[in-house]
Amino acid sequence: GKYTVTLIPGDGIGPEISESVKAIYRAANVRGDAPVSSCVSDVPIKVPIQWEEVSVNPVLKEGKTVIPDDAVQSIRKNTVALKGAHDRWQHLVLGKGHVSLNLTLRRTFKLFANVRPCVSIEGFKTPYDDVDTVLIRENTEGEYSGIEHEELTLGFRKMSDGMFLSACRQVAKDFPDVTYDEDLLDRVCLQIVQNPKPYADRVMVMPNLYGDILSDMCAGLIGGLGLTPSGNIGRDASIFEAVHGSAPDIAGKGLANPTALLLSSLMMLRHMNLNEHADKIQKAALTTIAEGKAITGDLGGKASTQEYTAAIIGKL
Ligand code: NAI
Ligand code: MG
Repeated sequence: GKYTVTLIPGDGIGPEISESVKAIYRAANVRGDAPVSSCVSDVPIKVPIQWEEVSVNPVLKEGKTVIPDDAVQSIRKNTVALKGAHDRWQHLVLGKGHVSLNLTLRRTFKLFANVRPCVSIEGFKTPYDDVDTVLIRENTEGEYSGIEHEELTLGFRKMSDGMFLSACRQVAKDFPDVTYDEDLLDRVCLQIVQNPKPYADRVMVMPNLYGDILSDMCAGLIGGLGLTPSGNIGRDASIFEAVHGSAPDIAGKGLANPTALLLSSLMMLRHMNLNEHADKIQKAALTTIAEGKAITGDLGGKASTQEYTAAIIGKL
């Protein structure tokens, strides 16, 4: 049978990289119908996914800006969605205040955990070749959730850090078998860039804003924001999206790297237990990057979004 998945292209480079993902999935479909050649495994490539495309950009309804009904219903019905980023100005205006569109989606579907794996691509040269981290962000509560992308005053930050620290110390007492240590964000950043080895087997717990900073830094260790996927996991639905934003500086120019969205879609396939399909597409994408002949500008190459996409399709 086929699974229907909600696709939200989003703003900026969102539509271009969504097209790329759709083309790759379409190609996998077509090839799966042909006899499987001997050089690939005998798993059919056909991806049993049907996209249902909607926009979550705010619309006016009875004097309020809201997420369009059909989008909310689509996500609720399908319970799985793939999403491009949204511009900062995409707010919902509710009575007096503005609410971030992303935050509203997270609260609407109780997407409590944002899971961000960050793994080195074998064969793609970066200062470290064995990065393997997972960062999990609290999505629906916490100091950062209501004021995403906005400045926090230093005073507020120091105060919430103090609260966070005393809570951690309290919890640490209940787990004497777990070695507990404290560190400062600036030092951690320096260390991870200079010599990440001591952090190899650590679990770090930190306030949400620091997680956002460390997550972009980890992306830098493996080749940048063009490569890092994420999943917003909830009880009622899950929405998968790249870690990066709408990249307005390169939108519409055919320069965007679709890998982060593609890898997000593969997290989605795995979430749906379509592991073999995810493995197939992932291998095609990662070997294309490792070979380096058709990679996008952010990775040091000269290929357009379409040329890179075509190279992956060629491998499939
Ligand atoms: P950004 O991630 O959009 O861009 C940062 C830099 O990385 C830019 O130079 C951009 O060209 C580059 N970049 C990002 N993704 C890329 C890709 N796939 N391929 C090649 N280069 C890529 O962050 P920025 O500039 O701070 O934000 C732009 C807009 O996106 C803002 O309106 C922001 O609010 C929004 N945003 C939305 C998010 C979401 O909806 N989940 C998350 C982060 C930002
Ligand atoms: Mg960020």
